[in-house]
This record gives sequence, structure tokens and C-alpha cells, in this order.
Amino acid sequence: MVNLELSVSTGHPELVATIASEIAASGPIPFARFMELALYHPQFGYYMRSTPPAHERIGWRGDFYTSSDVHPILGQALAAQAEQMYRLLGLPHSFTIVEMGPGKGLLAKHILETCAHRYPLFFQHLRYVLIDRSPAMREMQRRNLAPWLDRPDLLAWADDLSTVAPHGLTGLLFSNELVDSFPVHRVQVTAEGTKELWVDHRDGQFIECLKPLSSDALAEHLDRLNPEWPEGYRTEINLRALDWMKELAQHLDRGFVLTIDYGHTAQDLYRSDRKGGTFLCYSQQSVNEDPFLRVGGQDMTAHVDFSCLAATGEEQGLQTTGFTNQMSFLMGLGVEQMIAKLEQDSPEFNAAIHLLKPNGMGTTFKVLIQHKGLVRPELDGLQYKPFFGSVLATQSAA
Ligand SMILES: C[S@@+](CC[C@H](N)C(=O)[O-])C[C@H]1O[C@@H](n2cnc3c(N)ncnc32)[C@H](O)[C@@H]1O
Repeated sequence: MVNLELSVSTGHPELVATIASEIAASGPIPFARFMELALYHPQFGYYMRSTPPAHERIGWRGDFYTSSDVHPILGQALAAQAEQMYRLLGLPHSFTIVEMGPGKGLLAKHILETCAHRYPLFFQHLRYVLIDRSPAMREMQRRNLAPWLDRPDLLAWADDLSTVAPHGLTGLLFSNELVDSFPVHRVQVTAEGTKELWVDHRDGQFIECLKPLSSDALAEHLDRLNPEWPEGYRTEINLRALDWMKELAQHLDRGFVLTIDYGHTAQDLYRSDRKGGTFLCYSQQSVNEDPFLRVGGQDMTAHVDFSCLAATGEEQGLQTTGFTNQMSFLMGLGVEQMIAKLEQDSPEFNAAIHLLKPNGMGTTFKVLIQHKGLVRPELDGLQYKPFFGSVLATQSAA
């Protein structure tokens, strides 16, 4: 919980001034608007600036690291999974992988390298498209993908899905740690009902205040969740994730959606003992809960509600293929054999094991796969299911 007494609004001076002047002009803003500006203000937002360089944001020496910084095995496993999807789709003439929010582009690099070496037929028919809203991150992706830049038939960047395949796409829409970086609404249960956190600016400081819900969409979403949260309970609602899922469903003609992220089923995410929510800020490999520190200089995230993603997909024509965690996903795709080739206790071996840790990345990260235009596809990545029954509640049998 943010301690208002100790909270000091530090951060990128122009960004702080921009947010403060928006508040001065029209009053407090919903927390989701504050997070949008802090991370994605076109000039000063955390992800949008070219200084510091992108590698100082994401990576071992940056604010936080992702699986692709740890070891190429996730990219190698994803390449194997995509190749199986290509076969299940009947070897289409063109199979497009769209990676959304690719960060530094390392997963793309690992996937392309693996496909080029291990799956020549698939590689011949593969088109890889990256969508990232940050020009600074796109620049970093270009650097990491330099060997493929002279192959526009293979590798391309797009602003959004409508430009990738105006008439629907065959292939795989994929993301790793994208959805947890969408701006979230934060809500708190009070004696007068559920209120939303808004951000005000007083005496040179950002402060939070509780006000009525900012939109009907948020109220409707909370009605659908129908929670029994105790007074004081605080959590996050990621409405952007639902719009994003609708967009994916609209643009996928035949194929799969594969989403990897920190997250839980709704049942787990909204447990009554998780009463502070999952909102966190990352800076220089340390974690805090104060969004008003280093505004524009630290990442902000909230865990993903996978039940809601699956339900929204189903309403829009995407069947839920399965839900698992990163450890089981990697095991299903033969990671044991990949690791057996590494020298035991070498840095590479230890890094690969890190991705599988049962009390770490192996289980905190979940993998949701959805499909359209196929009947009951069986995927290697979903062989091992750590969850019982219809854990997503909305999981379909089709
Ligand atoms: C945490 S990073 C993802 C890291 C990366 N996928 C990896 O595996 O290392 C989030 C990325 O998503 C991008 N992003 C955020 N919102 C986006 C959106 N709506 N569409 C496309 N990219 C987005 C950010 O610019 C950033 O590059």
C-alpha cells in the first residue's frame, strides 16, 4: 500500500509537469490515465523515450529482465510450438507470426534463428511481424534483428493488426509480458461501495484519492466479476486487455493466440487474501509499490486475469485451447532434452533452469493458448497441465 506521508513525486521533470498541468486543467485523473502517461506519453513516457537506451530498461543491468534475457530456450520452444501450429493448419502457403510488445526483440531473434536452422520448410513460409507502440523499442528491435533486415518478405514492423492482414490472418498472434504493461484501473472497496483510485496533484506532489468509478465499462466489468471483497480490498482491472483480446479475435482468420504473462485465473487473482492487489513498480532490479516515485523512470505492472482474457476471446469466437504455466509449457516442448545438452552447472545451464523454477518464473508465468478455425488442436506445449478441470471456468470443450 502506498504511504502517502512518505510519497514524494519525483521523476522526469517534463513528464511530471505535463501530468500536473492536465490535472490542473481538468481535475484528478483516473489512475489508468496516470499510468498511460507515465509509461506511454509520446515524448516523455518510460517506454517511449530513447534515453536511457532500451537495454537499460529491460535486461540484467536494466530495471527488470524478462525470459528472453535469461536464455534462448523460451524462443526455441516457441519456434517448435509455432512449427507444430503450422502443420496443424495444413502447411498454409503463408504463416504469419505477429509478436506484440516485443521489447528488445530478443524472442523474435531466438525464434527466427531456431526456425532458420531447424525448420527449413516452415521458415520458407514464415512471415514475422512486430508491433510495438514505442519508437525507441522498435529501434532496439531493428538492432537485434539486423541479420534479417534485408528480408522484408520475412520480417516487418506494423502499427497495428489491421495493417498486417486487412482480410484476416493465418498464423499465430503472440505476446510475452505485454498485457501486464497495459494501464490498469485500480479500485478499492469502501463502506460506501467500490471506488476507483484517481490521481490528484497538490503542493507539488501526486496523491491518490478515492472517487466514483470513471466509466460504465468499469462498473459493468465489476458487476460481471461479482466479487465478495472485504472493505479495504484493493485490486486492478485491466480493461485495455479486453479490448486488445477483441481486436485479436477480429483479425485472426485461422490459427492461434498465445499469451505469456505474469498472472492467474480470476479465482486466484481476486482471492480475498490478496487484499493489496498485484500492482508493482520496477526500477534497477528492485520492486516498490509507489507509482509516484521516479515518474517516467520506472516500469509499472499488474498481474493478468487470464479467465477474463479467455472469456472475452470465447465471446469473440476464439476457443480456449488450454492454459498452463511456463514450466509445464517448456517441459511439453522438450526443454529437458535441450537442457541435457548443456554442461551441468554452467552459467548457461543455470540460466535455462531459472526459467523453469517452480517457485519463480516457471510458475508465476502462465501461458494461455486460444484457437480459431481448427477443431480440438492438440499442442505439445499443453501436454502437461498443472491445473485441474475447467480452471478458467469459461474453458470450452470445442
Ligand atoms: C515488458 S515489455 C515486453 C518485453 C518483451 N516481450 C520480452 O519478451 O522481453 C512491454 C513492451 O510492450 C510494448 N507495448 C506496450 N503497450 C503496447 C501496445 N498496446 N501495443 C504494442 N506494444 C505495446 C512496450 O513498448 C514494450 O516494448
